[in-house]
Amino acid sequence: MSQFPELRLRRLRISQTMRDLVCETHLSPSDFVMPIFVKEGIDAPVDIASMPGVQQLPLSHVANEAKTIADLKIPAVLLFGIPASKDACGSSSMQDDGIVQQAIREIKKAVPDLLVIADVCFCEFTDHGHCGVIGEHNHEPYLDNDATLENLSKQAVSFAKAGADMVAPSGMIDGMINSIRIGLDEAGFSLVPILSYAVKYASNYYGPFREAAEGAPKFGDRKQYQMNPANKNEALREAMQDIEEGADMIMVKPAQPYQDIIQLLKTEFPEVPMCCYQVSGEYAMINAAAQNDWIDLDKVMLESLLGLKRAGCDFIITYFAKRAASQLNNKD
Ligand code: PBG
Ligand code: ZN
Repeated sequence: MSQFPELRLRRLRISQTMRDLVCETHLSPSDFVMPIFVKEGIDAPVDIASMPGVQQLPLSHVANEAKTIADLKIPAVLLFGIPASKDACGSSSMQDDGIVQQAIREIKKAVPDLLVIADVCFCEFTDHGHCGVIGEHNHEPYLDNDATLENLSKQAVSFAKAGADMVAPSGMIDGMINSIRIGLDEAGFSLVPILSYAVKYASNYYGPFREAAEGAPKFGDRKQYQMNPANKNEALREAMQDIEEGADMIMVKPAQPYQDIIQLLKTEFPEVPMCCYQVSGEYAMINAAAQNDWIDLDKVMLESLLGLKRAGCDFIITYFAKRAASQLNNKD
């Protein structure tokens, strides 16, 4: 036994080069997906107060934003649309001239290699702000699961027709993957993958997003379709069901408060590509603390992302994508 056993770990931390050699987790711009919000009927970008640096974009700005993102070596964007008019079933999301469909065409024309992932849901398009068709259960409003399935499939097919490289259903509707897969296959889009928001919690961290996407529920909450933050075993059932239905990738959302779930799913389903979504509230919190000079924005940003990757996800949807990518690009 050496005289200095207590130095065993210190020896490998003695210099930056030594630390780099034994570094277990690496971040790169290819780990990130950047969300973008496109809004119908505006002609200049609109800032989101609670999400510094994030804006609602007019259609005319989308191609340029896509170029900026691709130039930073970020492989994909996640597209959200805010329509000019809303109705009970969110019909504008299923029309070929809808705002999301137009934005997809703009991006694919300008930057064909950038992957466009289209978020598939109804809350931004319905006048009540829920993620599907509202029915009734025991005289109370209730999200009608099966009536929503058919519309989800129509919306996904319409996005694929516009050129989306991937669709990402975010509504936690039971059977959504199966229904969308059948729709895509029948319409000739067998090669369009589905990224399932498989494990999405009914979280209070979505507040700033609902301002950005203008999709807050007008009554009630989403607890009947999104998961209870207290549950962990149930995450396995959610993921398993979506994988069986044909999800090509799965997601955990939010990210940081649910790192135990990320680790659990990567252990149980190592063969399925998995991402997490560092949501608007997580982004807002880091920014707010940095604006007060309580933490260093860039350092905490990179540490938060590193932690998510270390927990087991293969890539990360984050509003920091551009900022983090440009930091990492400047390092090498
Ligand atoms: C809506 C949707 C939400 C988010 C992504 N898609 C909000 C919600 O479920 O109410 C949240 C993203 C974020 O907070 O950054 N289906
Ligand atoms: Zn929704």
